[in-house]
Amino acid sequence: MSADPRSVTIGVVGMNYWGPNLARNFDRLDGARLAWVCDRDEAVLDRHRSAYPGARFTTDLADLLADEALDAVAVATPVPTHAPLARAVLEAGKDAFVEKPLAVDAADATALADLAESSGRVLMVDHLLVHHPAVEKLKDLVDGGSLGRIFYLYGNRQNLGIVRPDENALWSLGPHDISVMLHLVGERPVEVAASGESYLQPGVEDVVFGRIRFPSGIIGHLHLSWLDPHKMRKMTVIGSERMVVFDDMETERKVTVYDKGPIPRTETYGEYIQVRSGDIHIPKIPAAEPLRIVCERFVAAVRDRTPTASDGRAGAVVVEVLDAMTRSLAASGAPVQLARAPAPA
Ligand SMILES: NC(=O)c1ccc[n+]([C@@H]2O[C@H](COP(=O)([O-])OP(=O)(O)OC[C@H]3O[C@@H](n4cnc5c(N)ncnc54)[C@H](O)[C@@H]3O)[C@@H](O)[C@H]2O)c1
Repeated sequence: MSADPRSVTIGVVGMNYWGPNLARNFDRLDGARLAWVCDRDEAVLDRHRSAYPGARFTTDLADLLADEALDAVAVATPVPTHAPLARAVLEAGKDAFVEKPLAVDAADATALADLAESSGRVLMVDHLLVHHPAVEKLKDLVDGGSLGRIFYLYGNRQNLGIVRPDENALWSLGPHDISVMLHLVGERPVEVAASGESYLQPGVEDVVFGRIRFPSGIIGHLHLSWLDPHKMRKMTVIGSERMVVFDDMETERKVTVYDKGPIPRTETYGEYIQVRSGDIHIPKIPAAEPLRIVCERFVAAVRDRTPTASDGRAGAVVVEVLDAMTRSLAASGAPVQLARAPAPA
C-alpha cells in the first residue's frame, strides 16, 4: 500500500470469489491505494479484514459513494447487479471498473457507455484477455499485416468444469472470446448466430456454438462448453499469409505462428490451389498476470485519463453480441442482425 498522496484511491464491492483478486492487485500496485472493501455479507467481509488493515470495511456501497476522497470503485458482484451498481458509481462522480460482462441487457450496457462518455468518467470492463500479452502479440500480427488478409478466426473454451446454475456457457465463458475477437478484428459485427443445448439443467445451455459475421467477410466461431473432456483455452486466426494460435494452457508456447497458407492461383480456372508450409515460429511472450496488467491500466486511466482497450463502449458491443446470440439460441440458431452503430452526434 502506497502513502503517496497522488495515489488513486479504490474501493472494491463484491468480495466473495473474484473480488478478492481485484483487491489483492489494487492493494499491491504502486500509485494505488485500496481504501474501501465492501460486501453486503458481513461474513464475507470478515474473511478479508486481516489482509487489509489500512482499508475501511462496509456492507453498504453508499458509504463508498459518499466518500469524497474516493476516486474509483471496482464492481465484482453478480452479473445482474453490474449495471445498477456501475450507474450508481458513475452518478456519484467516480470512475468505475466493472467485471465482465458489463450488463445483462444491451440497452443498459450502451446507456452506461453513454453516461461515462458524457460525464467524462472512466468506465473499464474486466475483459482481461484483451490485455493479455499474447493477445497483444496477436493484435500486432493482425494489424501489422504479417498474417496477410484475415479470413476467419475461432475460439475454443472447453472444460469438464464448474457448472453454473444461473448462467449458461455463453454468458459465463463467451465474454472472453467475444471481447478478443472484436478487439482483433476491429470491426462492428453485422450478424450473429448461436446454437446450443441444455443437458444438465433445463434452460441453462452447457454447450454453445456461436458465429459472428463481420462486414469485411471475416467470420468468428466460438465453441463454449463446460461439458467436454478437453481443457482448452485457445484462439486461432487464419490469414492468407500466416496462421497463428494463442494457447493459454501452454506455459512457454503461448503463441505459435505458422508460416503456412494458400498460394494464390494465377493460371487457368480449375487448377488445384497449392499450399505453402514454411517455418513455425514461437515468439517470446512476457509472463505477466493479465489481471495485474488490467488493474495497472485502470489505475493509469483514472490518474492520467488514458484510454483503455476494454472501455465501456467496447464492453457494450460484447453485451450486444451476447444479447443477440441469446435471441438466436432461443430461435434454434437463426441468424440475428445487429443494429448499426449510431452515427456520431
Ligand atoms: N474476469 C474473470 O475472469 C472473472 C472470473 C470469475 C468471475 N468474474 C466475475 O466476477 C463477478 C463476481 O463473481 P463471483 O463468482 O465472485 O460472484 P459471487 O456471487 O460468488 O460473489 C458476489 C459477492 O457480491 C456480493 N454482493 C452482491 N450484491 C451486492 C451489493 N449490492 N453490495 C455489496 N455486495 C454485494 C455478495 O454478497 C457476494 O459476496 C461476476 O461478474 C463474474 O462474472 C470474472
